Formats: sequence, C-alpha cells, structure tokens
Amino acid sequence: MLGPVLLAASRSGRMRRLVSRTPVTRPVVDRFVAGDALPEALEVVRTLTTDGIDVTLDHLGEDITDAAQAHANRDAYLKLLEALGDQGLGKRAEVSVKLSAFGQSLPGGHDLASAAARRVCEAADKIGTTVTLDMEDHTTVDSTLAILADLRRDFPRTGAVLQAYLFRTEDDARALAGEGSRVRLVKGAYKEPASVAYQSKQDVDRAYARCLRILMAGDGYPMIGSHDPRMIELAVRLAGKYGRSPDTYEFQMLYGIRDAEQRRLAAEGQRIRAYVPYGADWYGYFMRRLAERPANLAFFLRSFTTRH
Ligand code: FDA
Repeated sequence: MLGPVLLAASRSGRMRRLVSRTPVTRPVVDRFVAGDALPEALEVVRTLTTDGIDVTLDHLGEDITDAAQAHANRDAYLKLLEALGDQGLGKRAEVSVKLSAFGQSLPGGHDLASAAARRVCEAADKIGTTVTLDMEDHTTVDSTLAILADLRRDFPRTGAVLQAYLFRTEDDARALAGEGSRVRLVKGAYKEPASVAYQSKQDVDRAYARCLRILMAGDGYPMIGSHDPRMIELAVRLAGKYGRSPDTYEFQMLYGIRDAEQRRLAAEGQRIRAYVPYGADWYGYFMRRLAERPANLAFFLRSFTTRH
C-alpha cells in the first residue's frame, strides 16, 4: 500500500524539500548513495573493484527543468569518464545515464538528450568502457529506444534497460536479443497505470521470468538487474540450459543492497556489477528505494527514533 504513496512522493517538490532538509535522512541516504561528489564515488569504485565487483556509475540529476542543467549533467559525466580513464578503471567501471537528466522531457528534448548521450558515449569509448541508458517512466520508452538504436550504429555496446512490468517488454526483449546487444532486465521502479503495466508482484515476477528466458536464449549479453534470489537462481539455470559461459551475461545489483550476495556471486566466478549512484540530487532515487521494500522504509523510520 505504501509503495505507490512513496512513488508519488518521489515526484513531489514539497516532499523533496521536506525529506532533503531533515538532518536524520543523511545517514540513511549514505547506505544507497556513494556521496555527493566524484572523489567519494571513485573511492567506492576502488573498494568494490578490489573485491571483484564491477561498477556502473550514475551521476544523479533526473527531472531537470532547463537546458543549462542538461549541459551541466552531461559535463559531470564527461568529467567522471576522464577520471575513470586517468585511474585506469575503464575496464571495470561503466556509466549509467538517465536521459531525463540530459533534458529528454524538455521541449525539443529528444534531440537535446540524444546529442548529450552521444558525447558521453564518445568519451566512454575513448577509455574502453560503455554506457547504459537507464529506463524511466513508460512515456519515455519509445524515445529512449530510438536514441539507443541511433547510438548503437556507432557504439554497438551501448546498453539498454527493459522493465518487465510493462506489457510491451516481451516484444522489446525479442527485438533486443540479437548478437552484441547488452540488455539490463529489471522489474521496473516507477508508478505505472494498469493500462500499460502489470500491477501485482506475482504478475511482474512472471513477466520477468518470461523476459529473462527470451534474453538468455538469445545471442545478446543479458544483464540481470535484480536482488531477487528466485530470479538469480533462474538465470543460473538458464545459463546452464543454453550453454552460456559466465562471460556472456552478468548480474547487477544496487549499491548498498544485498552486499553479501554480491560478494558471494563474485566468489563463485559469476560476473557481478554494482550500480553506484552519487551526487547531490539523490531525492528521487532514494524515494524509489524506500518504495520498493518495506524493510528499507523501516530502516529510514528507525533512524528517527535512534538519533533523537
Ligand atoms: P523485488 O524488489 O521484487 O524483491 C524480490 C526479493 O529480492 C525480495 O523478496 C528479497 O528476497 C530480495 N531483496 C530485494 N531487496 C532486498 C534488500 N534490500 N535486502 C535483502 N533482500 C532484498 N528500474 C527502472 O525502472 N529503471 C532502471 O533503469 C533501473 N535500473 C536498475 C539497475 C540495477 C542494477 C538494479 C538492480 C535495479 C534497477 N532498477 C531500475 C530497479 C528495479 O526496477 C527494481 O525496482 C528493483 O531492482 C527491485 O526489484 P528486485 O528485482 O530487486 O526484486
């Protein structure tokens, strides 16, 4: 019941101000976000990669309101990629980009976001790494997949994200299961209407399993973006069934969630990548994590009682 309320709050300016200014919020945010600035994020990258966990970095900054912010976000990625290159981390760390941070929802935003994403792909290519385009609410999917197709002509390893909760996704998974295609499959984190998306957890889980089968049976590079033990087990089973070696797919989990499982998979010889967000604009990301799981919300609420 609380999930939809929190997802609605994730888009509310008033709630943003309230939650962001509450001093006790910070220690809870730190569990999910690797700091406000680049040096803190790079420190986290060094720790994770030393432990055998690859990384995809997200510079937080979604839902912007003008082109200047879009350019500032693009430049933050260029700086991040330069730093990864300088530190020789290009083989272990890639970047994840939300096109809304590059102005996708502004007037003329498709072209603005496309041009910014292209600059980021060029910079990533230069240091031997890749970019994955995160997927946001369902109104952006066509635009994001069109930008992806365009980028892949020059940067074929650019990654897509598909959200299993959308009715359309099985078809999208079939279309993106070809050779060289990197696809992160997630359940989906936005509040979507019943006209476009499954609403019950059971239906979403079933859809995830169907899409996973399509991707694992295909010739692409599936990226299993889930903390769900059943989906992880299914992926391992499907890898066996389709004769996939561990370098032909990878698991992905969010920074701060199921750390022990991330290390276990690495120790078992599976490829695992942590999604590491950093930056001052953490509100929307943080609220989606609270909405996902009552235990995360309980952790947040407990911090009020233990710190006063
Ligand atoms: P779900 O939340 O259904 O949980 C299933 C089970 O997993 C739980 O019952 C429990 O056993 C275990 N589990 C989950 N969280 C746990 C925790 N904190 N501690 C212990 N166990 C836990 N979404 C989107 O819309 N667009 C995007 O681009 C992305 N990108 C993205 C990247 C990566 C790397 C990940 C992992 C996720 C995303 N997501 C996303 C978010 C995704 O859509 C989804 O909301 C979350 O991953 C939660 O769904 P799960 O599959 O983890 O399982």
